[in-house]
Amino acid sequence: MDQTLSPAPILELRGISKHYRSRGRSGRGGGQDVVALDQISLDFRPAEIFGLVGESGSGKTTCGRLIVGLEKADQGEMVLQGRSYGTLKGQALRDYRRQVQIIFQDPYQSLNPQISILDSVAEPLVTNRIGDGKSRLEKVLATLKAVGLAPPEDYAYRFPHQLSGGQRQRVAIARAMILGPKVLVADEPTSMLDASYSAQIFDILLEVRQRLDTTIILITHSLAAARYLCDRIAVIYRGHLMEVGPAETIISNPRHPYTQALIDATPKFGDCASLPRYGTLVSPERPASGAAGCAFFRRCGLAHLARCARQAPELRPLTPGHLVACHYSEESPDPETGATCRLGGMS
Ligand SMILES: Nc1ncnc2c1ncn2[C@@H]1O[C@H](COP(=O)(O)OP(=O)(O)OP(=O)(O)O)[C@@H](O)[C@H]1O
Ligand SMILES: [Mg+2]
Repeated sequence: MDQTLSPAPILELRGISKHYRSRGRSGRGGGQDVVALDQISLDFRPAEIFGLVGESGSGKTTCGRLIVGLEKADQGEMVLQGRSYGTLKGQALRDYRRQVQIIFQDPYQSLNPQISILDSVAEPLVTNRIGDGKSRLEKVLATLKAVGLAPPEDYAYRFPHQLSGGQRQRVAIARAMILGPKVLVADEPTSMLDASYSAQIFDILLEVRQRLDTTIILITHSLAAARYLCDRIAVIYRGHLMEVGPAETIISNPRHPYTQALIDATPKFGDCASLPRYGTLVSPERPASGAAGCAFFRRCGLAHLARCARQAPELRPLTPGHLVACHYSEESPDPETGATCRLGGMS
């Protein structure tokens, strides 16, 4: 896909923020405010696979749950095909929900163990009063076949515990796809599967995109999966966007120190000690700089105290379509250290 051409987005997030208030020790409030997402703006294009990448707790699932309407944003707007989610009511809201579906990391979350695969996959058709018994059965069998459960009659009458993890995830995909959604959020769909099952699920997602032109928002820890599957990715750190752009560009030429550290922290065969930024994500954090500075300041090995502790960098385009939230993203990497800026004033 040519990344410089930007067709009208199918879904836009505009300045989305979500905070959670923890209950504190007594369970009666007074805990810390957790910033799950802070002023996130993203656009998703028709039929693209877009990766949301970041470490645990960075806000990826929160973002996915907001997109499908399982959570409500504190601030900001979500726009599907030009219509703001906040203004949708009645049938328009039901239509939105039909068009935006999610699959979870653990298919047990979305499959009722007491309901057969046939009834589980047919449920969205029943809820939306689509077709009759015969046409629903045909549609379920065709969808099971499309996700690689063939012959589908062998699977339709089983229950979730009679399937393997990979087969259950295929059923979850079939259930999410049966209404032909425009957007599918896939939250860590393979993190409980081995490498060969993961590859099969990835291929099914690619096929779904190809056949139905569905936009897929893939939530993943794995930069390797993002590179294989995604057209574009967004790297999130503690609810803040660090870098957004074409997957290949970001992974081969990461410009944010957090993205660089994530790539260096990915397990590799060989000696990791030779990687200059390997330790960034395991080093102790420095003291907080207050709310004003860069979200990554406390762990960034490259930060300038005078600037990064005091001023949050804006997400700015480095090249068309490649956006980076770092004051020093333009500086070329130091060939010795891999750093994109010189160490300065860390006292
Ligand atoms: N319902 C909730 N109540 C309080 N805090 C929450 C709630 N849901 C999420 N959080 C907090 O919001 C932050 C983001 O959580 P989220 O689940 O979105 O992260 P994630 O990137 O999906 O992590 P992981 O990769 O581990 O799944 C975390 O600090 C989490 O503890
Ligand atoms: Mg998550």
